[in-house]
Amino acid sequence: MSDQHAILTLGDEILRLNIVNGTEGPGTIDIAPLYKQTGLFTRDPGFLSTASCNSQITYIDGDAGILRYRGYPIEQLAEHASFLEVAYLLIHGELPTRVEFAEFEHVITNHTMLKEGLFRFFEGFHYDAHPMAMMVGVVGSLSAFYHDTIDIHNPEHRIRNAYRLIAKMPTIAAAAYKHNAGELVIYPNNQVSYIGNMLRMMFATHCEPYQIDPLAEKALNLLFILHADHEQNASTSTVRLVGSSGANPFACISAGIASLWGPAHGGANEAVLNMLNQIGSVDKISEYIARAKDKDDPFRLMGFGHRVYKNYDPRAKIIRDVCYAVLEQSADANNPLFELALRLEEIALNDDYFIARNLYPNVDFYSGIIYRALNIPENMFTAMFAVARTAGWVSHWIEMLEDPEHRIGRPRQLYQGAQQRVYQPVSQRS
Ligand code: CMC
Repeated sequence: MSDQHAILTLGDEILRLNIVNGTEGPGTIDIAPLYKQTGLFTRDPGFLSTASCNSQITYIDGDAGILRYRGYPIEQLAEHASFLEVAYLLIHGELPTRVEFAEFEHVITNHTMLKEGLFRFFEGFHYDAHPMAMMVGVVGSLSAFYHDTIDIHNPEHRIRNAYRLIAKMPTIAAAAYKHNAGELVIYPNNQVSYIGNMLRMMFATHCEPYQIDPLAEKALNLLFILHADHEQNASTSTVRLVGSSGANPFACISAGIASLWGPAHGGANEAVLNMLNQIGSVDKISEYIARAKDKDDPFRLMGFGHRVYKNYDPRAKIIRDVCYAVLEQSADANNPLFELALRLEEIALNDDYFIARNLYPNVDFYSGIIYRALNIPENMFTAMFAVARTAGWVSHWIEMLEDPEHRIGRPRQLYQGAQQRVYQPVSQRS
């Protein structure tokens, strides 16, 4: 707590509000006592200026294009770390020692299986059910299988379930993929890496040997690191809000998956490919750029712009080169869709409308293209994102429960509806 304060004048009354500073980034005006003292709420739709919690996990400076997990720049983690190392860092706050990492990897590897009953859930879904719909349902129902170890006040249970979720997400996502493909599920193989297993469970079949493509593994490891956390975004805030009522971790992460699904959030990578398909050919780009600029047209260039990054998205900068490498090696390299994507990127980057509003390609512009080049179907893109983001979600859920200031999240509102009126029986209404 600092001795700085902000002064709020309300008529004749002068109110001193404490300024609370973090270790980096903008400080906050502590308005918690405001309602008690003034009878007024603050109003901030979309949380443009509101810090909803204290956190020590991820730091973003959107103007400078900075993203750090637990203090480590994303560029360093992307270059040197594995996704599981990053998951450990997010949860525990420190990079693991060699022994700690070996132990963590062992535990995660040994929790990848699903109960057979859970695999059977998939049979109940329609053949073309969206993978995110299946994931919302199956992840939520994990609580029906582990109800004897979901005491959220028990630190050992919290960690065990965090690990369970990280371990089982690839298995669940891959089972959703197999359901859509009409193929038998492939069980996890404990001899294979976390990322390799994800690829195997999706693309191997029971009749052919399967070789994990090292470039695909590298690209996925990188994408998972970049997507592992992003502080208080919509889905993470959802996980925190659901968890604040004391809900179990599986229900919380299921709610996070639902929030991530939206096209303005994690659904953007799928929306990018839908948009490229809609544009169809390079000669149509200018028509769609004009539509994106037209205020009367709801069309937006998907994969461009970001609420926080108003300069550039550091994740996009890291993934761009890998995107090009994957495209070069792709068996589908001559797909006109990829040429279209690269032309769109070039045109938008040089267009005054996009330059003036700092609308740069974000991470999901490139992740969508990479997933497509790896033959991952469009409806699986956001599911891949959900697998990676689980590491961040569980870290925030644990942090929230350990925060002594934590209480149930209960936003207030500015009521603009009808004032009191008198009910009339339906027989008397004209
Ligand atoms: N295409 C065309 N115009 C845009 C776009 C876009 N993609 N994004 C923003 N604008 C314009 C917007 O119309 C507004 O113009 P003006 O100032 O003339 O009214 C200006 O840029 C500022 O936009 P905003 O809506 O105030 O920005 P926001 O911070 O509320 O929205 C966003 C951020 C990400 C929702 C938005 O940029 C968008 O819808 N982008 C496309 C969806 C997308 O790619 N989302 C993925 C984000 S990265 C993954 C993740 O972290 O979840």
